[in-house]
Amino acid sequence: MNITVYLGANPGSDPALERAARELGGWIGESGHALVYGGSKSGLMGLLAESVLRAGGEVTGVEPRFFVDAGFVYDAITRLIVTEDMAQRKAKMIELGDAFIAFPGGTGTLEEIAEVMSKASLGHLDAPCILYNLNGYYDGLKAQLAHMIEMGLSSPEKQAGICFADSLDGIREILRTSDSHRRENGTMKQTIRVNEYANQIVSALPKGVLLNTNGDKFNAMVIGWGHLGTLWSRPTFHVYVRQGRYTKGQLDRTGEFTVSIPLDGVDPVINRVCGGQSGFNIDKVREAGLALEDARTIGTPGVRQYPLTLECRVLYAQDQDLSRIPEDIRARMYPQDVPGTAPLANRDCHTMYVGEIVDAYIIG
Ligand SMILES: Cc1cc2nc3c(=O)[nH]c(=O)nc-3n(C[C@H](O)[C@H](O)[C@H](O)COP(=O)(O)O)c2cc1C
Repeated sequence: MNITVYLGANPGSDPALERAARELGGWIGESGHALVYGGSKSGLMGLLAESVLRAGGEVTGVEPRFFVDAGFVYDAITRLIVTEDMAQRKAKMIELGDAFIAFPGGTGTLEEIAEVMSKASLGHLDAPCILYNLNGYYDGLKAQLAHMIEMGLSSPEKQAGICFADSLDGIREILRTSDSHRRENGTMKQTIRVNEYANQIVSALPKGVLLNTNGDKFNAMVIGWGHLGTLWSRPTFHVYVRQGRYTKGQLDRTGEFTVSIPLDGVDPVINRVCGGQSGFNIDKVREAGLALEDARTIGTPGVRQYPLTLECRVLYAQDQDLSRIPEDIRARMYPQDVPGTAPLANRDCHTMYVGEIVDAYIIG
């Protein structure tokens, strides 16, 4: 899962802070989770990110442009998201997180975790919100929250998602319990490192995986061509869509897609409907019995039956140039005699869409 951690860009005065930041980062990296944090290199923020990277984990930094320009960014992190201002940074860090931890910090940390607490109490966020109460650092806040309830200004129900942990073991226990709760409710998403699943992804392609788009409606089409790779130092998945497909219009409008990959073989009904019929004519969710799962980072759901999910934003697109395709392939694949909107159309060229993989997980 993506764990968003809020903490300060200075080291603090107690050496226990440094030890705890390193311990937390080491655990996030080793356990296959990923860190989302503010993106800076200094103080506790830098220590935490460095510890995650050292333990083999991925780190996403979300940094406002003015901090980037001032040279605060930690260059070694896996992914940097630059926002226009602090408000956008807060929103992005919430959007990306599956769990939220406030490490001991200052007013900035307090502001950030307060928004998470508020969203959890309104029911707008179903994710654990953990105050890391190292050496009693957040005892005052704990008392304040209890006081709010006593005064009838908050309630135990509203504060149900807010937890205090005084050690890493406590944090792990809270996350473990919330994971099993989510699993029971069918909303578990296990974050993956895409490279570790490269074999499954590439091997699934010849039998067909789903390319999902969500414009006027949700639509899934089977694709058999695709590449997992890297472009401009970003993790990417490239797809090829004939220009008469319903999918193409949706992709051009929304600029995003999900790829749903089966782990236990294909479902013949899903592949027949989504690979042989067009969204121009039918509602594939109904016809193929697709169970949709909301995405975490973009607006296009995945399909539960094909649980390995890549969320992608279009980074680049290019139409094929027929004149540069080898003659024998051109004659076989693009003979110009079947109209472009038919499922087996061959008159159209393909457009290649390069999607930046912005999130990847297995729906449990
Ligand atoms: C195994 C398989 C692989 C396919 N691969 C692709 C592909 O890579 N690109 C493409 O444009 N169409 C491909 N198709 C065809 C589309 O899935 C099919 O035309 C679909 O009906 C298009 O749906 P849409 O019009 O709703 O977008 C494939 C079909 C099958 C069965």
